[in-house]
Amino acid sequence: MTTTIAEIEGDIDKDNLNPFSMLLLQDGQDKDANHAPQQQQQQVYFLQSINSNIVIRQLPSQGLSFQLWPAATILITLLDNIRGASTPLSDLFKRQEKEDSPLRILELGSGTGVVGIAAAAILGAKITVTDLPHVLPNIQFNVDANSKVLEQQSGVVDVAALSWGERQDMEAVGRDYDLILGSDVVYHDHLYDPLIKTLKFYLLGGEKKIAFVMAHLRRWKKESVFFKRAKKLFDVQIIHTEPPSNGSRIGVVVYLFTGKR
Ligand SMILES: C[S@@+](CC[C@H](N)C(=O)[O-])C[C@H]1O[C@@H](n2cnc3c(N)ncnc32)[C@H](O)[C@@H]1O
Repeated sequence: MTTTIAEIEGDIDKDNLNPFSMLLLQDGQDKDANHAPQQQQQQVYFLQSINSNIVIRQLPSQGLSFQLWPAATILITLLDNIRGASTPLSDLFKRQEKEDSPLRILELGSGTGVVGIAAAAILGAKITVTDLPHVLPNIQFNVDANSKVLEQQSGVVDVAALSWGERQDMEAVGRDYDLILGSDVVYHDHLYDPLIKTLKFYLLGGEKKIAFVMAHLRRWKKESVFFKRAKKLFDVQIIHTEPPSNGSRIGVVVYLFTGKR
């Protein structure tokens, strides 16, 4: 059964759609990563397509940018399966892959870096993972912790600051990408416009047609504002719908954004 965007964004009685909203409410601001006490947690992901583990350090006491989020896990699982049966996501990646050069991917709001690191290892791709400046040391730690598997799989991960909407950051990171990835990047409403500005830069601003693949676990009704604004500028399609889990009423949805031309 396919799900339409209207059904996903439809009128749902309560604003709070799943338990992960509570994490965001408690944790709107990241702490100063250099001064707050750090509790570390390691999460191991087994990537079956390359028969390897990646290990990711979370620092939950530092804030939401230092934790793993459910949409990331779903996106990694889908990427890990793209060599199998044909799906809209696998077809998209296969279309983008070029024989003579590695796939180049930009990730927005990478958090721990888990999606970018996994994608680089699975696809043998060159990925630029980005986030706010204070988040980058933990991402670099995670990239370094997985350097062996990345090297074995010819994956390369660069870490760069990209604050959404900041033109100088976008110019510095450049436009030379085949695809853009993001997971769980739509949550606080003051971030909708900066994120849309960033997507405009990449999806509408260059000569090359670049698509944005976004895994999203909807938390609040207000998020439909982001999608309404986005749909004025981009074609937005659902390419995967995951069944709900962990007491949620909605599962992770993967969207494909392309520029309206
Ligand atoms: C809910 S977390 C998701 C992290 C990661 N993508 C994942 O799925 O595990 C949202 C991420 O967006 C980043 N973020 C928030 N505001 C941002 C901004 N203005 N510019 C760039 N990144 C931002 C946060 O630092 C955080 O890492």
